[in-house]
Amino acid sequence: MFELTKLTPEQFERFRVFIFRQTGIHMHDGKITLLSNRIRRRLKEHSIESFEEYYERLTKGRLPGELEHFLDAITTNETHFFRTGGHFEWFGGPFLDDLLARAAAGHHDRTLRVWSAACSSGEEVYSLAICLAEAAGRLPGWRPTILGTDISESMLAAARRGVYPRRSLEQVSPERLARHFASQPDDLWEVKAAVRRPCEFRRHNLLEPLSAPRQDCIFVRNVMIYFNRESKVVAVRHLVDALAPGGYLVVGPADGIHDVLGDLTKRSTFLYQKA
Ligand SMILES: C[S@@+](CC[C@H](N)C(=O)[O-])C[C@H]1O[C@@H](n2cnc3c(N)ncnc32)[C@H](O)[C@@H]1O
Repeated sequence: MFELTKLTPEQFERFRVFIFRQTGIHMHDGKITLLSNRIRRRLKEHSIESFEEYYERLTKGRLPGELEHFLDAITTNETHFFRTGGHFEWFGGPFLDDLLARAAAGHHDRTLRVWSAACSSGEEVYSLAICLAEAAGRLPGWRPTILGTDISESMLAAARRGVYPRRSLEQVSPERLARHFASQPDDLWEVKAAVRRPCEFRRHNLLEPLSAPRQDCIFVRNVMIYFNRESKVVAVRHLVDALAPGGYLVVGPADGIHDVLGDLTKRSTFLYQKA
């Protein structure tokens, strides 16, 4: 019989510290009800009757695979294709113009590396891939790669499946839908092979360094909004390390990194460039 109501302030604090250490996400005091509700569902799943017991078993690794479900339960995974459309117009326009100009001047080879950090279920990755597919005529002989990473394995599994409901595709024009997606039953839409080709997905925590060649452009949007200054400092340091000299960082409208810039120069409201 479950008689759980809400986390006590002490229990909330223990979970808050654990979440912060795992993800960099800072839960402010107003989130106690939300967090209680989300954790209560995990307790029911395991027929555990107290928050304490769940905390002990979760943090001591005595619930195999549970950390993954816990992180899924407490993170926000909302995303859709071409979210904040201006960022993709910049990517398919001025960014590629600049890259091509640098390549023509002999300052860049024909590799193009893009990283979608905290990509959730993959819509951001495939939106970038669609931009590149549509610019293919301008990139003869180029080898683009788009790396999608997230802390959540279940989001990455959805990203690898690449099948989306109509509500994820509201910003996709009918022409793009017809060209880049295959229709499936139940109004689901599968990303076509040509768009998937440069895309790769793997798990990565933004609080850790990325093990990959330096990137020309990183999209890291709508995730640092959940971080406090301390975790933003760590994440931005790793992001800057992952960027090639002259590479660009694109952030979401509320990600607020103006006070943790390090080696970055602000180019516009959403755009930063490494020296
Ligand atoms: C709201 S989604 C953003 C998706 C996409 N970037 C967009 O803007 O539409 C936030 C994602 O950040 C991921 N996330 C949270 N903390 C993370 C961390 N420390 N490292 C990597 N990903 C993280 C979550 O799993 C979630 O999928």
